[in-house]
Formats: sequence, structure tokens, C-alpha cells
Amino acid sequence: MKCDIGFVGLGVMGKNLVLNLADNGFKIAAFDLDFEKVNAAIEQDAEENKHGNPRVIGCSSYTELLSKLKAPHLIVLSVPAGDVVDQVCHNLIGAGIQPDDIVIDTGNSLWTDTVEREKRYNENFIFFSSAVSGGEVGARFGPALMPSGSAYAWTRVKPIWQSIAAKVDGDTGKPLERTEPGQIIPHGEACADYIGPAGAGHYVKMVHNGIEYADMQIICEVYHVLREGLGLDCEQVSDIFAEWNAGDLNSYLMEISVEVLRHKDPESGAALVDLILDKAGQKGTGLWTAVSSLEVGCPAPTISQAVYARSISSFKELRIATAKKLTRPQTETLSEEQKQALISELHDALYCAKICAYAQGFQLMKLASVEHNWKLNFASIARIWRAGCIIRASFLQSITKAFERDSDLENLLLDSYFSDQLSKYQSNWRQAVAKATLMGIPVGAISASLSYYDSMCCETLPANLLQGQRDYFGAHTFERVDKAAGKKFHVEWSKQGRPIKPLN
Ligand code: 6PG
Repeated sequence: MKCDIGFVGLGVMGKNLVLNLADNGFKIAAFDLDFEKVNAAIEQDAEENKHGNPRVIGCSSYTELLSKLKAPHLIVLSVPAGDVVDQVCHNLIGAGIQPDDIVIDTGNSLWTDTVEREKRYNENFIFFSSAVSGGEVGARFGPALMPSGSAYAWTRVKPIWQSIAAKVDGDTGKPLERTEPGQIIPHGEACADYIGPAGAGHYVKMVHNGIEYADMQIICEVYHVLREGLGLDCEQVSDIFAEWNAGDLNSYLMEISVEVLRHKDPESGAALVDLILDKAGQKGTGLWTAVSSLEVGCPAPTISQAVYARSISSFKELRIATAKKLTRPQTETLSEEQKQALISELHDALYCAKICAYAQGFQLMKLASVEHNWKLNFASIARIWRAGCIIRASFLQSITKAFERDSDLENLLLDSYFSDQLSKYQSNWRQAVAKATLMGIPVGAISASLSYYDSMCCETLPANLLQGQRDYFGAHTFERVDKAAGKKFHVEWSKQGRPIKPLN
């Protein structure tokens, strides 16, 4: 019997997606340049599905892969983003792929590459894309999926994608967890829905990752203040995070932070996190989000700051040298009461900074959607992110509701629920930023969110002076508040008032 899906790339994500597809009743023909990886998937399938027929068939060439599939063929790629995607596409063309066959790229591809690929392969096959979030566990038991491209392809992919995706209870927005091989969740809302034309899904996943960077950095900054400012150990921080995770701050990233902080090094018995070198890696999606925000002209300072925080962490040797040269403020010992106050201020700071990071990400997607005519549905995107993905969090249900109330919402800060939350907690947020700053502990992302909030609160910003400066040295012109909008003015600045002395 022919297979339902061809699968290329059996790395950790690929293998788990294959087993997830198999659990949901699909038969897979699998190919990887490293046949050991194909064997590993076949063995794991046999192990997990002892009494059933094999659900994964190994193939040793692209030609064999196509020959094992039902026509029209559906092939899923789980290969590294970049040139490898094109190499596989060319190999599939060489193997005889047909124009009505569909190839789905599930990697973290740059969205503009996806747009190009849809056009490039148009005559050979339908290039479809579906970004996947959730890491290896998500891939195995239910990821969040962000498909985009041909609407026809989506009609074929949809039943498969909605069966393997994470599910949530539609009323509460709470994830319906799958944890065991063989288990399926036939009910609930699937975290997989059509995002839009080619490139839109990868753009949305890119912004998801930008928010992920911001969310992670905000948690790390709070951890830093709790460790250095309050002198707490990893266990104590972990306990605080566990308590917060039971409330408004409930999220996957909080949950894993609790576990990372509790983890002990088996050799020394010390908290493992204390032994991890403080140089952050990055594969590029956060950077792409920051670059896109600059190109689109959308303020996303918390996301950009999170990228910078990773960059500054990577200059370890330089930081060791500068730390010897520069001075930090003397810190006072805090009383127990002061410590407890700062802990609750940090809670509120984390929450408010997080809201602002999401507000930036959603506004960025909105502006990109207008620019590229994608017609993104933000309630649907928030719904998809409620489970399965790395940024899943209880408050994604509140974001879903905000966009259900107003699908055209320009910025989350305009939604009454979020503006009320920010008003309620902003005083503690300011205290946390001020105290951390006085202690000399960097809280760049939390501060960036606060400055963003404060800018959004200001009807008038000092850009009037800036426009004056620009007009002074470059005759760049300015508009006036007391004249018709759009009318440009220029002034011979140095002719009025004191003459400017020449520099010598
Ligand atoms: C996900 C993750 C995943 C990965 C990113 C970020 O949604 O499953 O976002 O895609 O964590 O590639 O990786 P870096 O932190 O290395 O940039």
C-alpha cells in the first residue's frame, strides 16, 4: 500500500514530526541523506507501535521516495533553512516530481526566500510552507503550525496539519496536553490555521521568534536582579518563578525556567545554570525580526534589545576586561521587607514588559500585512500560539479576545483589558526598573518596554526639536502644529538670534 506523505530530513524535529503523523494515522515514506536517521525513525516507530503494522517506510533515494507515495504526492521537508531547501527541491525535480505535487518547507526559512521559492518552483510543483514551533516535544506531541502559500494546497494539507497540531479547549484556551506515544486528541481547536499567501507564515513565525527572544530576555533580567540584587540562590529563584507560573505569568518559558534553575550538575551537585557559560547563541530569527521592524518602521525596542542582549553576552572576554576597568554602584543590603517588595515589583515588571513585547510583535505583523497585502487574521494567530509553540502562555487567550473584540486593533495597548493591566501595574514596573538601575544590574529589555510604554503615553515627543535640528543642518523641512497637515516649512535658522561663531 502506498504512503500518504513523503518526508525528507529525519533530524530530531523531522523524526518527531514523522512519529506524530504516524500516531495520527498517516503512513510515511522517509528519506534522509544519513540512512542511520531513517533507521532510527523506523526503529522508534516499531518500538512505539509494537502490535501494529510499520507506519514508517525507509527510502534510499528521492526516486524511491516518490514511487512509494500516493499521487498527487505530498512531501514534507524538515531540513536546515537556506541552500539545503533548494538542493532538496532540485533533487525532487530530478526524481520526477509533478506540477500538482506539494512540497512543504517546515524549517525556519527567511520569509523572502519562501516568496521566491513559490515562484521559482511554480512550474515544477507547488511550493508550500509551514513554519513549526514547539521544539522536539512539540513536534512529537503537537506543535503550533503556521502554514501559508497556495490556498488549494492548504485544502489538501489542512486535515493532516490540524490532526497533528497542538489542541486547546476552545472555551478556556487551555492546552489539551498529549504526552504519550499513540495518544491522539480528536477534539479541541487545532493550533494550525492558514496564515496567508506565500511568505506570510514564515514572517509570522519570525515574529513569534522575535517575541520569544524578548520573553526569554525579560525572564533572564528578572533572574539577574533576583540573584545579584537580592542574593537569592537558584532554588529560591526557581520557587519564585514556580509561584508566578501559577498566576498571570503562566507560560511555557516560565515553566522551563523553573526546571532549568532546579537542575543540578551530576558531577558537582551545584546548580547547573551556574556552570553554563553566559554567552548566548542565536540562529538569526530574532535578528530578522529586529531588522524587519526597522525596515517596516515599526517600533519594536524590546525585541531589538533582546537581540542586543545576546550580542553583548557574546563579548565575554571584552566584558571581563571592561568589568575590571569600570565601576559599579555600591549596593546596600536590603531588609527582608524591601526584598519582598522588590520581588513583587519584579513580577509586575515582567508582566508589563511582556505585554509591550507582544504589542510590538503584533503591530509589526499588522504593518507588514498591510505592506504585503497578506490580510493576516490576528485573532487566529493568537489562537494558534495558545499551545504547542515556545511562547505559549495563558495570556495569549487575552490577546485572542482582544483581536476578537476588534480585528483591526492597531496596537494591543489600545485594548481596554491591556491598558487597564498596564495602568494597574506600572508603578511597580517603574520601581523595579529604578531599583535595578540603581544597583547597576542591566534590565535593557524591561526598560525598553517601559520607554516604549512611556512613549506611547506621550501625545508630544521631543521630535519637534529633532525636526528643527534636521532642518537646521540639512534643510529637511518640517510640518507645523498650527498649520495645515502636510505643508512643509524651512527656516534660515542662523539668521535669527545670536550669530553662530565659526569653529576653529
Ligand atoms: C520554536 C523555536 C525554534 C528555535 C529558534 C530560535 O518555535 O520552536 O523558536 O524555532 O528555538 O530557532 O533559535 P535561536 O535561539 O538559536 O535563535
